[in-house]
Amino acid sequence: MKPWQSGIWFGGDYNPEQWPKGIWHEDLELMLEAGVTTVSLGIFSWANLEPHEGEYTFDWLDEVINGLHSKGISIDLANATASPPAWLGIKYPDSKFTDQNGIIRSHGGRQNFCPSSANYRRAAQALTEKIAQRYGKHPAIAMWHVHNEYACHNARDYSETSAIAFRAWLKNKYQDSLSQLNRAWGTDFWSQRYHDWSEIGTPKVTPDGTSPNPTMQLDFARFSSDALLECYVAERNIIHRHSPGIPVTTNFMTIRGFNKLDYWKWAAEVDVISTDHYLMSNDPNAHIELAMQADTTRGLAKGYPWLLMEHSTSAVNWQPRNRAKEPKELLRNSIQHVARGADGAMFFQWRASFAGSEKFHSGLVPHAGKNSKVWREVVKLGEFLDSLEEVTGSTVSNKVAMIWDYESWWSLDQPNLPSTDLDYLNNALAIYQAFWNLNVGIDVIPPPSEQDDLSSYQLVVAPMTYLMSKETATSLSRYVSSGGNLLASYFTAISDLNDHIYLGGYPGPLRELLGLTIEEFAPLMENQTVLLSNGYEANTWSERASATTANVIASYKNPALEASVAISRNLIGNGSAWYLGTSLNRKDMHDFIAKVLKDAGISQTLVTTAGVEAVRRAKDEQSWLFLVNHTNNEVKIQAKGFELLTKQEIVGSFKLPAGEIAVIRENL
Ligand code: GAL
Repeated sequence: MKPWQSGIWFGGDYNPEQWPKGIWHEDLELMLEAGVTTVSLGIFSWANLEPHEGEYTFDWLDEVINGLHSKGISIDLANATASPPAWLGIKYPDSKFTDQNGIIRSHGGRQNFCPSSANYRRAAQALTEKIAQRYGKHPAIAMWHVHNEYACHNARDYSETSAIAFRAWLKNKYQDSLSQLNRAWGTDFWSQRYHDWSEIGTPKVTPDGTSPNPTMQLDFARFSSDALLECYVAERNIIHRHSPGIPVTTNFMTIRGFNKLDYWKWAAEVDVISTDHYLMSNDPNAHIELAMQADTTRGLAKGYPWLLMEHSTSAVNWQPRNRAKEPKELLRNSIQHVARGADGAMFFQWRASFAGSEKFHSGLVPHAGKNSKVWREVVKLGEFLDSLEEVTGSTVSNKVAMIWDYESWWSLDQPNLPSTDLDYLNNALAIYQAFWNLNVGIDVIPPPSEQDDLSSYQLVVAPMTYLMSKETATSLSRYVSSGGNLLASYFTAISDLNDHIYLGGYPGPLRELLGLTIEEFAPLMENQTVLLSNGYEANTWSERASATTANVIASYKNPALEASVAISRNLIGNGSAWYLGTSLNRKDMHDFIAKVLKDAGISQTLVTTAGVEAVRRAKDEQSWLFLVNHTNNEVKIQAKGFELLTKQEIVGSFKLPAGEIAVIRENL
């Protein structure tokens, strides 16, 4: 994946079909005023492009595309398959989405389709063929946008159509052997053994207080991600055929809580990685969560520049209470993404709708029009991004990696775990926050396979990597024995990839590397805290663990646990393996991570006031320091170079006002 353009993209989803034609001209004028470079067009236009099966109406789209082109605005053109029209479900009932209760969902929302339905696939591919054929070589098309946020509303379809496809997927995985499947799923539990393939359905809701077999659920999650991926790949291939050389993307959702697709697998099929990110109104640290998601997206892009396809200028409409962004927050959010490798800051959507269920969602052009805080900031952002052109194609490099594993997360989303507080995302975020506060950058990586070389990292973090293959464990051991540092959190390497517990003491394949063994989990109760021997305060989790070769850094002061290990460090040659067996309060986590970093010899991007985010992008011999002041105070920063937004030379230090951003081309 190479830089796909010059300049930072700025614009958003453009839905002209929602507006009378008279507005289209005004749209173009306003886009020019704001400095919009690119729009994503036609995402939800299926019903307007194919009102009846096989009858296409492209005239309006021709006009919009030519209008944009005449103003020099480039287009990320959708193939419009994200929201099937009413006729599809009426004509082909099997094309509709079925939920876990077996209820077939009605038309009127969006994404109402079953990915395994041959009728849906045929119709979606036919539409793609028409659009790609018509516009594949149009000079305004800069990128293709397949579908939209796959799995947002129909991640797992439980219909009979999916059951047939699931069985085929299972036969392929288990080499046609039902006994292999029975072994993998552990079906001798609760009389679940299958004697014929036809007995296997989708893991629909089971009697109260029970849930489907855990490995079946895990395989169903894998299958469901693959089923949607097949839809994407088929549509992408059609586009590649008609539009050679133009990159194809589909917008991911690296957004708090979304985990339905195995994006590591998806990323390999996408020409430019793009994503959507929205802040959670009730999260006071949403800007830190944003940073982690941006780092994840850069990881999916293997470090290359990526595209922020959607975020919001202000409030969204789908949370219980939708917070309006504070003044300058829009600018901070956009620059945070660009700092972490995005070569574009795009939005949902150009003009806030006046009808439909998203009518209270912000846009670049708000209901109030130009006389608004949002519009003024949009125009300012356009100017800022324009002045960042030289940054295009630069990358971020870090000394710390964090393993990110969708499959572990899927398993931890299931019931019947030792504690409902085992929370994959929040555990990782709590650790990430400490790095963020210290301005130490993190690369997000998939669970390493045996061949993967981690040696460019001085520290690898494995947060709650519950499912771990022996190959990954071997790779981590090799990394540590050749001088690397590992930090594993609790509930890591408990099960193999079939979700079978490793026996003989947890965490089976990492016991030797960590130099300890855990004999029993002792989850803490809600709001319960426990003191550690080094004065830290722990919550959520404790366990009965003893060191074999590890040095104990802290143990539980709980007499019932008889001084079990809470934090330890196992020295192996020049490397070390840290274990964090519990969850620490914020201050102690910060202190602990600072110690780990010091021991690993990792320095901060910039030593500055807490709450000032500093990230460096670099290309060839040049680097740029991005600064975002999230505090309410002006902060003095030590730096030398040229500040691109205010166009000022900085000699030694400068003052960054509260809530402001700066991008410094550094003098080396
Ligand atoms: C995204 C979606 C957009 C819009 C937006 C609202 O999930 O791709 O079409 O619905 O959310 O925040």
